[in-house]
Amino acid sequence: MKVGVVGTGHVGLVTCASLAAVGHDVVGNDLDEEKVAQLRRGDPWFYEPGLKELLGETMQAGKLRFTSDPGEAMSGAEVVFICVGTPPRASGEANLIAVEHAARNVAKHADRDVVVVEKSTVPAGTAQRVKRTLERERSGAMGHAEVVSNPEFLREGSAIEDSLNPDRILIGAESRAAFDKMRELYAPLIEKGAPVIETDIPTAELAKHACNAFLALKISYVNALARLCEKSGGDVVAVADVMGSDDRIGRSFLNAGLGYGGYCFPKDVQAFESLAARLGSDFPLLGEIARINDQSVDAACEKVVEALWNVEGKKVALLGLAFKPGTDDVRNAPALALARKLLLEGARVVGYDPEGSANAKADCPQLEIAPDAYDAATDAHCVVICTEWAEIKELDLGKLTSAMAYPVIVDGRNLFDPEEMKKAGVSYYPTGRPHISS
Ligand code: UDX
Repeated sequence: MKVGVVGTGHVGLVTCASLAAVGHDVVGNDLDEEKVAQLRRGDPWFYEPGLKELLGETMQAGKLRFTSDPGEAMSGAEVVFICVGTPPRASGEANLIAVEHAARNVAKHADRDVVVVEKSTVPAGTAQRVKRTLERERSGAMGHAEVVSNPEFLREGSAIEDSLNPDRILIGAESRAAFDKMRELYAPLIEKGAPVIETDIPTAELAKHACNAFLALKISYVNALARLCEKSGGDVVAVADVMGSDDRIGRSFLNAGLGYGGYCFPKDVQAFESLAARLGSDFPLLGEIARINDQSVDAACEKVVEALWNVEGKKVALLGLAFKPGTDDVRNAPALALARKLLLEGARVVGYDPEGSANAKADCPQLEIAPDAYDAATDAHCVVICTEWAEIKELDLGKLTSAMAYPVIVDGRNLFDPEEMKKAGVSYYPTGRPHISS
């Protein structure tokens, strides 16, 4: 099937590569000519495991190409995916100007019957507006246009795997023909066992926000619990294990720490709250999720202050800067929020990340970057574990702590075993578990 994909960000590029990998003829379109030039060289502009290889394979097989010309991407396309960014406005609502722009381009350039797929996370009601834009802006060559909501559920760091082996394919549509077109598109994945859920369009749009907000809720719940455990002497990891042993609750997304970051959760929780407010439906729980998330970074900062007394002039090393392992993405990374707080307090902050150092430096220029974890820890008065990279878990603790000025570790991801910390003589501040003094 000939497919156009508008937007080559994390979602768009993974959509391009995975649809091309299952045999479709895909053209990725982005306004940014520099990005397009880089993609034509088979070089993704962000790190995602397996993406570069898949781009190389599919481009070489003639299944995938990139253009900055929307006309080229729409020409002959039976399906066009809208994968553009939906960043927050100052009000918290999603800014949908790029979605509108993409819809106008479809209306102008599509030259046959077309299914327009909302892949970006958008508030309920957006499809109706996309549909109206298609009708208002149609230029003549476009045939019958249908809008479909098909939210993505891929996680950064495992996006290719999630995209090729999805938990579910959610399709919100208004006609049997549109459902069938989407089933035909995803046939290679459906044949491998991916379940399809068909709904109306507002349900699909709402379900995506509902999923992300609920996952964020789990994280904030366990982080609020962590504060309580620290005050009562409990162990949040053990509490989460007990909770997780109940099938109705589940253990995943109950890892206490510095909280959630990234592009999706912060923006989606806020956008969902704004949508509810705009529709006059009171949903204050959503605001609490974000408030507790911010407190998780504050709590880690307080531990550093507690451990070091005055932080002015002291060196704090942050290990892991990306918002989670497996990515170089530092957008809304808790590590950078912590860095800014510590810098404000007068600390010297040095960070290391296996993939995200350059992005972190660009986002927070006052942050010093070390070439490796040991270098970051050298002469540090405190190390804070911010991202649970395997490389950081496997560090030689003896080597790390002997290079430090004080053997103090604040573990913002509960990455280490408290018993080992005790043996190594570390003053160890985990999250929601008892402090171990050296
Ligand atoms: C998320 C959703 O999982 C995905 O379905 C959606 O399509 C996009 O948003 P992503 O942002 O890539 O994906 O990251 P995810 O793995 O969900 O983690 C989000 C954040 O929560 C990370 O900062 C992570 O460190 C944090 N997290 C996750 C916790 O703090 N504790 C947990 O138990 C789980």
